[in-house]
Amino acid sequence: MNKKTYYITTPIYYPSANLHIGNTYTTVAADAIARFKRLTGYETFFLTGTDEHGQKIQRLAEGKGITPIEYVDEIVAGIKELWKMMNVSYDKFIRTTEDYHIEAVQKIFKQLYDQGDIYKSEYEGLYCTPCESFWTETQLVDGKCPDCGRPVEKTKEEAYFFKMSKYADSLIEYIENHPEFIQPESRKNEMLNNFLRPGLQDLCVSRTSFNWGIPVTFDEKHVIYVWIDALANYATALGFQNSNDELYKKFWPANVHLVGKDILRFHTIYWPIMLMALGQPLPKQVFGHGWLLVDGGKMSKSKGNVVDPVTLVKHFGTDAVRYYLLHEIPFGQDGLYTSEIFIKKTNSDLANDLGNLVNRTIAMVHKYFDGIIQAPNAKEAIDEELIKVALEAPTKVEGRMDALKLPEALDEIWAVVRRSNKYIDETMPWVLAKAEDKKERLGTVLYNLIESLRIISVMLSAFLPETSEKINRQLNASKTTWDSLVSFDGTEAGTKVGEGEVIFPRIDVEKKLEELAKLQENQKKEAAVKNTEMKPIKSEITIEDFEKIDLRVVKVLACEPVKKADKLLKLKVDLGGEERQVISGIAKYYKPEELVGKYVVLVANLKPVKLKGELSQGMILAASDDKDKLFAVNPGELSTGSIVK
Ligand code: ME8
Ligand code: MG
Repeated sequence: MNKKTYYITTPIYYPSANLHIGNTYTTVAADAIARFKRLTGYETFFLTGTDEHGQKIQRLAEGKGITPIEYVDEIVAGIKELWKMMNVSYDKFIRTTEDYHIEAVQKIFKQLYDQGDIYKSEYEGLYCTPCESFWTETQLVDGKCPDCGRPVEKTKEEAYFFKMSKYADSLIEYIENHPEFIQPESRKNEMLNNFLRPGLQDLCVSRTSFNWGIPVTFDEKHVIYVWIDALANYATALGFQNSNDELYKKFWPANVHLVGKDILRFHTIYWPIMLMALGQPLPKQVFGHGWLLVDGGKMSKSKGNVVDPVTLVKHFGTDAVRYYLLHEIPFGQDGLYTSEIFIKKTNSDLANDLGNLVNRTIAMVHKYFDGIIQAPNAKEAIDEELIKVALEAPTKVEGRMDALKLPEALDEIWAVVRRSNKYIDETMPWVLAKAEDKKERLGTVLYNLIESLRIISVMLSAFLPETSEKINRQLNASKTTWDSLVSFDGTEAGTKVGEGEVIFPRIDVEKKLEELAKLQENQKKEAAVKNTEMKPIKSEITIEDFEKIDLRVVKVLACEPVKKADKLLKLKVDLGGEERQVISGIAKYYKPEELVGKYVVLVANLKPVKLKGELSQGMILAASDDKDKLFAVNPGELSTGSIVK
């Protein structure tokens, strides 16, 4: 009989910067699920990779003066290192810049065009580059991207569109008839009510304003929208639209696409519609997990508030980090990262509960029986409960894993850990050791502990593979399969246990926190310099120097272009009792009507000058990256004339 198959994917990450603990979270969770499925007898395929095209990557590479592929190559190498470090057991790593993927995506696009689902028209709208997302005016929140809160850019270009609307009803029906398709449940309702039921707009699926993407084969100045390119990876990685599609036949449809809630919309609307249009089955489930928050906000590469997994692993080891990610964040909900909780949990659950159990047990076998495991010939009633808890755990863990409840699965394992520690307290082996006639009973108690540890270790192998191996080495266990957990006799009497080894050293909380804080401070500084190619700070001034400048909140009453000067705008501003005319070089960034009614900050005592024949009585403050972005400083809606200092 063929083995049951299981196909799980992570999002393919943007190699725009090194990955952080948030991206690591998704990947480690997927890894635990994949390992668990392998352990429980599924033929498993676990896919991860990188999403390398798009405007954001192109701009970053330009900023560094290198080609996009040079840019991503370096980051992708780092990502692969990170997954190795985190013990991620992926079966395949897809890069969207690989030929087989590019060709398959081109075929998909062509097919959709040929069958009339993609058509040519003109795009006029708003684009969020960091999210690579299109928006309409009404979808914006405070004029900004509703997903990330950053400014959007107006674009107008000839473009291809995907007839999403044609498939909307079928998709709604599908979602309603397949309650397990979007998980958790709350997210399903969000997708239906916020996006699908209000009506789907056709999706713009090509761009001409940049070229770092997959060209449309029949219209080469267009590149395919990066989300179409990216979503297709889940199928192209298996050989879809390629000569060798064995894996596709075997593993598609995916059992689960594991994604963060930020990109659930793409996976539960665009991707299923693409598949419907291509006549392919839909993935069985898309699971949208929550975010890792730091200081109250989402951790993200583009915000730069990241916790570096490499640093954590160096200080605490891979499995401490894996345990934190898998256990401390309620699966499906947001969870907070703080170094303090991380260290405390490592101490209590790993060093104390698990570490001590291993240590004490192995040490006692060495001390009382020269390391030889005794046959359990002196059973007592008190053993029953331990045995029951240990034998029931695998089924419970499996149930939790089927529902993708990772923290709860670990709780079930820890129930055995804690019960075993309690068993030591109850049986008091050190007391038994003092009585010559209790030798056999002592041997039985230690056998039971070793056997519990064996069961714990097998279950743990999906979550903390390195720790599981370390425990196995100490137990010298020969039976390590899932099937061997059905009875409490998998340990062979007469086996000599290995050397004792501390699996999680206790951490000095205060000392480590201080060390980490210092490190993070340094990293922040380095990142700031690296990210912005920071300009040197000008020479020092005194507060008296600064106080010479009179800054006022003003309201823009009117605004118009300046004739024959395409960089300049002429503004009429209200200082609260006085009106002024200001000429400002911001025409590239603002349309005149966008500024009317806005509050801005004016340098009010700047010597008036004439620009292109027009009098300018002051200067508007604006922040700019000196490349393509500029924003007038926004003082909120303070009354006009308010002093800025
Ligand atoms: O969105 N907490 O890539 P991306 C938890 N290329 N998970 C987080 C997180 C956080 N603070 N921040 C990121 C993209 N993630 C696209 C995907 S798929 C066809 C294309 C995780 O590099 C989470 O899984 O921005 C999120 O969905 C993913 O990283 C986004 O990674
Ligand atoms: Mg992102």
